[in-house]
Amino acid sequence: MEKVIIFDTTLRDGEQAAGASLNPQEKLGIARQLDKLGVDVIEAGFPASSVGELEAVRLIAQELKRPTICALSLANIGAIDKAWEAVKEAEHPRIHVFLSASDIHLAHQLKKSRDEILKMSQEMVARAKSYLNDVEFSPMDASRADPAYIYQILEAVINAGATTVNIPDTVGYATPQEFGGLIQGILDNVPNVRKAVISVHCHNDLGLAVANSLEAIRVGARQVECTINGIGERAGNASLEEIVMALKTRQDFFNLTTSIDTTQIYRASRLVSELTGFSIQPNKAIIGANAFRHQSGIHQDGVLKKSITYEIMDPKSVGIPSSTLVLSKVSGRHAFKERLSELGYILSEEDLNHAFQGFKELADKKKEITDRDIESLIAEELRTITEVYHLDHVEVSCGDHSIPTATVRLIGPDGQNLADAALGTGPVDAVYKAINRIVGIPNKLTEFTVKSVTEGIDAIGEVLIRIESKGVTYTGRGAATDVIVASAKAYMNALNRLLAAKKGGK
Ligand code: KIV
Ligand code: ZN
Repeated sequence: MEKVIIFDTTLRDGEQAAGASLNPQEKLGIARQLDKLGVDVIEAGFPASSVGELEAVRLIAQELKRPTICALSLANIGAIDKAWEAVKEAEHPRIHVFLSASDIHLAHQLKKSRDEILKMSQEMVARAKSYLNDVEFSPMDASRADPAYIYQILEAVINAGATTVNIPDTVGYATPQEFGGLIQGILDNVPNVRKAVISVHCHNDLGLAVANSLEAIRVGARQVECTINGIGERAGNASLEEIVMALKTRQDFFNLTTSIDTTQIYRASRLVSELTGFSIQPNKAIIGANAFRHQSGIHQDGVLKKSITYEIMDPKSVGIPSSTLVLSKVSGRHAFKERLSELGYILSEEDLNHAFQGFKELADKKKEITDRDIESLIAEELRTITEVYHLDHVEVSCGDHSIPTATVRLIGPDGQNLADAALGTGPVDAVYKAINRIVGIPNKLTEFTVKSVTEGIDAIGEVLIRIESKGVTYTGRGAATDVIVASAKAYMNALNRLLAAKKGGK
């Protein structure tokens, strides 16, 4: 059976989603899970965009030996050189060069002629090829370009050495029939097309990203670019889990296979949601909380008699745990480590010790520690690894007849203790004001959500916030059994991301 190459761009196009910025450790954590998932190619980032981004891609390239590690690059020499710098230590490196190809982009954005773009595409693929063999090229906005011009570009870049040609539906404009037609046109009109793999990259502006990708695969594309949970620029990219499970569940129709270990899908989805701060809608196909829940009596009756009546996939096949093992304060370090590894987390000794301390503190407050609690705890650990300011202490006084007052102490970049206090309209406002007095970065709070991780009065409260500074959105998350502490942690997390982005030149 022929195989479809799964190219994951969660760490590049996924991270382009407003408010999704990830620090290098978080990117590495996701990359490790993508490796376990079995993706063929990890697009780890866009090295020319910032120093921090280049370093994050390099970190992933140095560690992960099995998958191809790809760096995206603009079609200019400086960007290609940076992309090479970032991936050159990978076992299987790839550079992905892109350049707009539609007349709309040429006229209004690049102000260049078709001939100029054709020449640049060829030259920049040749430049990347001078470094490595595995070169991908994308004519951006291909679905709105003149197909005859796309054929011409593809022929030229394949002659220049491109081994994969990727057809992006950059603005999510195509319909499945049109997009499949474009792929068929490429197969019929690009004489050297069989020397390269045809790839597709679809956005979800009209909710058609997965449908367009599957139609392109049916017609002959053999690489698909997608993201975990479908995150990405604007309405997102085609969702990896939906494409992979469609190919698997409907193998009778597609007659194709992938290298994905589908039992790792749930873990990958949870991790990406935790680290980006993007919750998964309950009705999301494959991994939404309701995806395998049957509400109506008739459906429940059928599933109890034989699951095939209303279930086309086994929840276990995507890694949804059938039971949640519970730990408690009598559980030791060994049991904790075992559970972490079953959940897919491999921590260094130092991080494990720290996480275990967090587990013990939580177990003193909460009788039963579920998998969701552990996920929340580990996400908290990953968040604190690259902090500039660390929240050391927070205390509030509030009530219906008192003025909310907060005292906070932070540990600063040079290890110094920094304490301050403030009054506010409520306890969270007072805490944020006290933190602002120390950190002093102007920003606007645009979103604040609290939810409990599990049921029960002793549950961990998870706070998600978004702040805006100079037109850029930063997400922050914090978790604790005390929602005020969780709120303070979430704010510190968002501020630390803002500071890291500034430092990395983003
Ligand atoms: O959507 C798009 O066109 C892209 C390219 C860089 C491939 O993300
Ligand atoms: Zn894209």
